[in-house]
Amino acid sequence: MKNKIVAGNWKMNKTFSEADDLLFTLAENLKDVRLETEVIVCPPALYLEMAVDASEESNFYVGAQNVAYAEKGAYTGEISAEMLRSADIQFCIVGHSERRTYFHETDADLAKKVDLLLKNEIVPIFCCGERKEERENGTYFQVIKSQLENALFHLTKEEFDGTIIAYEPVWAIGTGLTATPAQAQEVHAFIRKLVEEKYGTETAYNTYILYGGSCNAKNALDLFTCNDIDGGLIGGASLVAEDFMAIINAAETAISND
Ligand code: 13P
Repeated sequence: MKNKIVAGNWKMNKTFSEADDLLFTLAENLKDVRLETEVIVCPPALYLEMAVDASEESNFYVGAQNVAYAEKGAYTGEISAEMLRSADIQFCIVGHSERRTYFHETDADLAKKVDLLLKNEIVPIFCCGERKEERENGTYFQVIKSQLENALFHLTKEEFDGTIIAYEPVWAIGTGLTATPAQAQEVHAFIRKLVEEKYGTETAYNTYILYGGSCNAKNALDLFTCNDIDGGLIGGASLVAEDFMAIINAAETAISND
């Protein structure tokens, strides 16, 4: 079985000293342990450099939560892919539902972001997922298919090989309403089938598809033991070192049980 990935999305949380504390604790906990799971920490942009420093002494990667859709220039407040690359950032979340909703990011914007990240050798963690009403009216497969087709499937096979997908049902994010393992597995299998149709069986097998949405220390193992769930993108539970470590341990258990 392939390894798992557990990524923590801190969103807009933590002061400078709180970020320092959490990074220090994670670095200590992950140091000198041999993990089959790849751990990625995605703090706010202000703390990326601090996170890269902490990661150098430890065993995790650092990801950004967002990137500009433009290459460089007069875009006040934005951070470019080239800037992330120059700060040794290896991953970047793209298309999180909070960015789609509150910052009106479109599929066209996301496609440009994905292209710029790949050009700078940063792995996009591309988020897709349906809203509550789309789950309830049964259109969720179509919604996810169009998100992938419009912002990710323009890539060549070689480019696509450098991406990660995260399925995050919007109704499960920050709500405590986790998708059941069966609900999550159903969509993950659907996504993998779409990848297979577009890029072939080998790429589909190798693609990491993470689950996000109220994933925590209690439910992580049940989710991670599903066939098509390759790990998690964790929000709230990544803000407490103990909880995040428990989720990483659940990923390790899921790998060793397989
Ligand atoms: P929660 O784990 O807080 O539900 O957030 C999930 C998420 O949005 C990760 O990107």
